[in-house]
Parts: sequence; structure tokens; C-alpha cells
Amino acid sequence: MENNILVCEHITMKFGGLVALNDVSLNVTKSSITGLIGPNGAGKTTMFNVITCNLKPTLGNIFFEGKNITGFKPYKIVPLGMARTFQNIRLFENLTVLENIMIGFAHKVKYRLFEPILKTPKFLNQEKEIKIKAFELLEKVNLKEKAYLKATGLSYGEQRKVEIARALATSPKLLLLDEPAAGMNPSEKIALMYFIKEIKDSFNLTILLIEHDMKFVMGICQKIYVLDYGAKIAEGTPEEIQKNPKVIAAYLGEANVKG
Ligand SMILES: Nc1ncnc2c1ncn2[C@@H]1O[C@H](COP(=O)(O)OP(=O)(O)O)[C@@H](O)[C@H]1O
Ligand SMILES: [Mg+2]
Repeated sequence: MENNILVCEHITMKFGGLVALNDVSLNVTKSSITGLIGPNGAGKTTMFNVITCNLKPTLGNIFFEGKNITGFKPYKIVPLGMARTFQNIRLFENLTVLENIMIGFAHKVKYRLFEPILKTPKFLNQEKEIKIKAFELLEKVNLKEKAYLKATGLSYGEQRKVEIARALATSPKLLLLDEPAAGMNPSEKIALMYFIKEIKDSFNLTILLIEHDMKFVMGICQKIYVLDYGAKIAEGTPEEIQKNPKVIAAYLGEANVKG
């Protein structure tokens, strides 16, 4: 369908004898926030790895903006307009916040191998330009005052924002967030929820996110897919998912239904 920025058709991913994904189909509507939930080991991160072409599915196809990208090299994915963050935050430890963001912009730069070494005027100009852009981005996400701090010295919530901002530097159309709220305290989670909604609008994004926190998912997603043992067991609106007996049995558990 034209309105789907991402279409995953009948994805099966086997690791030897383990079937991590079993015939999973899902669509992501343009400009939506779509959730992917399920218990640990359900295959959520594997699905992200397949979507971003870090893994080639055993069976099935991935379409991004109507284009079949199955089997593409991972480095070809970012220029198409897809960016992701990781379940465990991946920032460059010894670099500042600003430098981490600059790396996000670097993929657009074309210079020859010797230019950074000799620091040619062309290289220096490009570096200056990237720095300006990185600053602008930090301003947009309210992290400007942290620009010169070491990224890994920030609070967990702020590090998450830096990682998301670095993904934004690549000008994605589709942003994939793997458990962005994991490890956050309740107030950080609420702030992150607003932050995600904000960047979705200001950067014109479509978002697919994996999350464990049900309140978070229910509060932010228009559509939710549920995986269990590699199979899609449900899809629907937050209201539909909350009521779905399969989901309650597999995922929510008694404690969560009460709470
Ligand atoms: N590269 C891999 N090689 C082998 N097994 C893997 C690999 N990646 C994931 N798995 C297995 O696939 C299953 C799904 O994992 P994962 O997608 O990380 O689950 P989730 O993100 O839902 O917690 C798990 O049993 C995991 O051990
Ligand atoms: Mg995972």
C-alpha cells in the first residue's frame, strides 16, 4: 500500500535450528508511531536487524518506500532514509556529545582519503559545516549546553537522547528505536515519550519502536504488533491489544493485567 513506508512480508529468520522469526508480516504506516512488543527473546531485535539489512532473512521480503531492499548491504540503508538506535546505547566513549553527533552527519561527506590527513581547506570547511549542523541539531533537541561534555558522562536519559539525535543527523524518514525507555526512571520515561512525539513532528518522521513498558507503548503508539516465540500473535490499536486474550496470556501476565 502506498501509505506504508515499510512493508515486511512473511519474514522467517532461522539461526541454525532456532526459528527466531516465523512468517512475520508487518506494515508501518507513513507518519505513524508503530510499536513492536513481546516477551524477551520473542524476536523483536532480530526483526530490526532484518529490517535494517543487518541480517538477511531466511525467507520473506522487506520493502522500504515500495522498493525491495531484501539482501541489501547494511551501509546502503542509511542513505535510503532509515536510521536506528540500539538496545544497549552505543556512543563513542571518548568523544563529546557534539563529536558523537558530528559522526551522524559524516556519512554525507565526500572527501578523498588524504584530505583529513593533510587537513586540506576543503576538508576543514566541511568539518566546520558539520559542526554547525551538529550544533543546530543539539539546539533542537535541547542538548546544546551539553555539547562539550563527554557523552558517556551524561545521565542515562540524556545519553539516549544523544543516540537518537545522532540517528536524526542522517535525515531519516523511518526511525527505529530498540527499547528506548529501558533502564529509565518513570520521569525520564515521560520526558522521552514527549521527546519522541516532538521529534516525530519536527523531523517529519515515521517511527517503529520496540518497548517493554506497556504504559509507554500504549501512550505513544497508534498501532502495535505483538511477537511471541518468533510468531506474530496479534496486531491492532492499543485498546485492541490490551483486550486481546492471547496477548494477555503470552505477555502481560497476571501482574500486569491487574496493574
Ligand atoms: N545472531 C544470532 N545468532 C543466533 N541466535 C540469535 C541471534 N540473534 C538473536 N538470536 C536468538 O533469537 C531469539 C530472538 O532474539 P531477539 O530478537 O534478540 O529477541 P528480543 O529482542 O525480542 O528479546 C533469541 O532466542 C536469541 O537468542
Ligand atoms: Mg531485543
